Parts: sequence; C-alpha cells; structure tokens
Amino acid sequence: MEAIVYEEFGGPEVLRQVRVEDVHAGPGQIRVAVRAAGVNPVDHKIRNGWMEAAFPTPLPATPGVEFAGVVDETGAGVTEFAVGDEVLGRSATGAYAEYVLADVGVVARKPEVLGWAEAAALPLATATAVRVLDELEVSEGETLLLHGASGAVGSAAVQLAVARGATVVGTASPANHDYLRVLGAVPVAYGEGLVKRVREAAPQGVDAVFDVVGKGALADSVELRGGTADRIATISDPDAAHFGVAFSAGGGNSPDEGRRLGGYAQAASVGGLRIPVERTFPLREAARAQELSEAGHVRGKLVLLPGEH
Ligand SMILES: NC(=O)c1ccc[n+]([C@@H]2O[C@H](COP(=O)([O-])OP(=O)(O)OC[C@H]3O[C@@H](n4cnc5c(N)ncnc54)[C@H](OP(=O)(O)O)[C@@H]3O)[C@@H](O)[C@H]2O)c1
Repeated sequence: MEAIVYEEFGGPEVLRQVRVEDVHAGPGQIRVAVRAAGVNPVDHKIRNGWMEAAFPTPLPATPGVEFAGVVDETGAGVTEFAVGDEVLGRSATGAYAEYVLADVGVVARKPEVLGWAEAAALPLATATAVRVLDELEVSEGETLLLHGASGAVGSAAVQLAVARGATVVGTASPANHDYLRVLGAVPVAYGEGLVKRVREAAPQGVDAVFDVVGKGALADSVELRGGTADRIATISDPDAAHFGVAFSAGGGNSPDEGRRLGGYAQAASVGGLRIPVERTFPLREAARAQELSEAGHVRGKLVLLPGEH
C-alpha cells in the first residue's frame, strides 16, 4: 500500500510517499481503506522528535492518528463492524496511508450525509475537548476561558461547553472573532493586555480555564482565577508545572469513546457540531500540510485525502 513514511526525525522534508507492506487486522481490530486523514499538531511534534521522552516512536514511522474510510477487513472477534461499513475513528497505525488499523472501541459509523473530510476532523478534537471539560467539571452557568478557541480542539470545546450551558470566552486573533461568535463564544484577542480584556468580556469572573494552544497564557490565567491554579488545565504548555497547573495528556482511550464519537458524528451530520476543514490535500502533499499545521494558525482542521491525486 502507499503511505507517508519518515526514517529519521526532522523537518517536513523527511516525509516521503512510498510503498510499504500491507497491514492486516488483528483481534478486535478493523482494517479501513482511508478516504480522509486528519492532520494534527501532534503529527509534526512526533516527526520533529519532540515527543520522544513521553512517547518513543520506532522508525520508520507513518504519521496520522485519525481517519474516516471504509472497512475492508475485520479481525477475530469483531462483531460491531462489517466489510463495507463507512466509519471514522482513531487509528492504531499511521493514518497518512491507503489503509489503517483501528481498535473497534474507538471507531463509530459515519452518517451517510457527513463528508469524509468533515468526519476525519472529529475524533481527536472531540475526544480531547470532552476529556478536559470533564476534568475541569465545566457546568451550566459557569464561565470558561478557552485559550486557542479557533483551532480544532478549541472549536470542539467551545461548542461542547456551550452545550453544557457554560459561557465561553475564547481567544483568537481578530480575524477569527466572527467565527468564534458563530460557534457561540465571546471572542477576545490574545497577547499583551489579555487580563484586562477578559475582565471586560467576563465581569462575572472566570470559573475554569482550558489552555489549548500552550503559548504562554498560564500566568494570566492564574491571575484571572484570583491567584489559584485550581480548575486550570493545559494540553500543550510545557511550563504547566511551574505554575502548578494540571497538564492533561491523552493516551488511554475512554471505554465509551466509540459511542461518544458516534454521537458527535450524528450531531455534525445535522449541523449541530462543526469542526471546519480549512483545506484538504492529496496524500503526496503531506509535508505541505504539516508545514501549515506547524505554523499554528489553522482554523479548524487540515485533512489529507489519500484517494485524491
Ligand atoms: N495533550 C493532548 O491530549 C492533546 C490532544 C490534542 C491536541 N493537543 C495539542 O493542542 C494544541 C491545539 O491543537 P489544535 O489541533 O486544536 O490546533 P492548533 O493548530 O494548535 O491551533 C490553531 C489555532 O490556534 C490559534 N492560536 C495561535 N496562537 C495563539 C495564541 N497565542 N493564543 C490563542 N490562540 C492561538 C490560531 O488562531 P489564530 O489564527 O487566530 O492565531 C489557530 O486557529 C496543539 O499543541 C496540540 O498538539 C494536545
């Protein structure tokens, strides 16, 4: 099968499209013909070798942690899915490829009307957003400050927090403020003067802070929480411990992830949840897609389409 592979850590130039051995579904797994693969910041972080201390990656490696596609092989004991089913989920092997393996517990059926790219944009962003909103115990009537509200995880978190009845103050550059209003957030520009702007936007105070982007907003966050790191979480800032802030890492799959993902896919299919796909690329342009992702200003998600030439 065709796949994007890198044999050494480094910049986007280490990515090559090559033929590799076909993968086959093990027990409890399905093999999926990939129609769309989400591009995530973690892909370039792993490729650069920055994640080696936490998650060592054996080389050669294929990037990609989420997909949408068609089941074309089922492993022993799989009763939940059959060949021909249209699905989306998190992958056990690199999703920048023609075929991917996935554990059935983190896969859901794709509603027919949901596009391939829009489906591939959902799994990581929704799983991460709901995990952190649960950890922060964000609930009805509360105010959540969200740093990095216009990326994929941020977009999901705005909508899921608003659905819980929370008020969301979301940071982004002014070019994304109308977008955030449409999602249901009160937009605020990031950078110098943030504390003052958030106080003006949320005179009632901030009950919890979700730092998605990890670009130096933790000191301001502690100040806005009245000097405590309680109910502040980051998924990206390496300085979390310095501020006494909880770092929320992914990893273990939640036992009902596939069921939840099915619910988000249904919601997305009727316009009730939206992770916009900023741009799609054919598989051979994976390096260009990662370059744009690494630049850090994608609205929603970038997606690779392995079937497109
Ligand atoms: N620990 C975990 O479990 C986990 C899971 C998933 C993702 N992550 C991490 O979470 C981060 C977010 O990922 P993502 O896919 O949502 O998107 P992303 O590509 O990192 O975010 C893009 C968005 O960030 C905004 N942005 C850039 N600089 C900003 C700043 N200083 N303040 C506020 N917003 C800023 C941009 O808005 P503008 O264009 O308006 O600047 C853009 O819309 C990544 O670092 C990723 O690796 C961690």
